[in-house]
Amino acid sequence: MDVPTVANGLPALGLGTYKNKGEQATESVKTALELGYRHIDTAAYYENESAVGAGIEASSVPREEVVVATKLWYDDLAGDDVVPAAKASLDRLGLDSVDLLYVHWPAGSYEASETMPALNELYDEGLVENVAVSNFTPEQVATAQDHSAAPIVANQVECHPLLQQDELRDYCESEDVAVVAYAPIARGKVADVPELSDVAQKHDASEVQVSLAWLRQRDVAAIPKATSEAHIRANWESQQLTLDDADLAKIDELDREERLIDPGFAPW
Ligand SMILES: NC(=O)c1ccc[n+]([C@@H]2O[C@H](COP(=O)([O-])OP(=O)(O)OC[C@H]3O[C@@H](n4cnc5c(N)ncnc54)[C@H](OP(=O)(O)O)[C@@H]3O)[C@@H](O)[C@H]2O)c1
Repeated sequence: MDVPTVANGLPALGLGTYKNKGEQATESVKTALELGYRHIDTAAYYENESAVGAGIEASSVPREEVVVATKLWYDDLAGDDVVPAAKASLDRLGLDSVDLLYVHWPAGSYEASETMPALNELYDEGLVENVAVSNFTPEQVATAQDHSAAPIVANQVECHPLLQQDELRDYCESEDVAVVAYAPIARGKVADVPELSDVAQKHDASEVQVSLAWLRQRDVAAIPKATSEAHIRANWESQQLTLDDADLAKIDELDREERLIDPGFAPW
């Protein structure tokens, strides 16, 4: 099945799963896949890889059609820790390989010269189809590239109409690194932005759908976390919404720089 894609062929819409655990996570993943999603985002840190893997297994969608992404936590990034940590993620997911393996944060035991070669070992063995990073600044992406023979296909960062990441998006575009937006609906805050409400009203859509359409049309993949079928479906349907140039410009002009995820170990 063809789904809209962004740079590097990544499906434009994926399902986020942070804080969705156990049977509910299994159910949400299965529901999403059966509605048409082909991109599922998890992480060792979310403690739901087994439940996510069970959802993939329970769905009627063949494994090879799905982009499955997981992430290594920052205390598993020393040269000797990466391979066993990734294998443990694969075991929990019940998969032979993942499509994207992210370095979750450039923090803790992350050291480009150690971590990236270890990720390349996994890539060479076929356990990881693509190497990716998350929460990296442009400078950190460049350094990681210097230490990776395998291309870095994506940088997953917070990105939504209230934090547009123009500079980072430009850099990633110039380097053929896809941008994957986490918290793409600003954890619901997009509903309170009058400019987004105006565009939503014009298209008989929601502010959430407008935000997801804006990201897609700006060539950014989005992985909104949604638990219920209603939210999973509403987000999927954002792909039927096409914003016109005036709508896109109105959103581009928002200048709010509201970052929601800002732990002490962040690199910025
Ligand atoms: N790489 C990183 O460091 C990092 C950091 C944060 C997040 N992430 C990833 O990005 C994903 C998304 O980010 P996020 O979970 O922080 O925030 P988000 O996707 O912006 O927002 C999730 C919230 O929005 C609600 N929601 C979803 N669809 C909705 C809809 N159509 N209408 C109204 N509300 C809706 C969800 O509720 P329900 O759950 O009730 O549906 C949930 O409360 C995460 O799950 C995770 O996979 C990665």
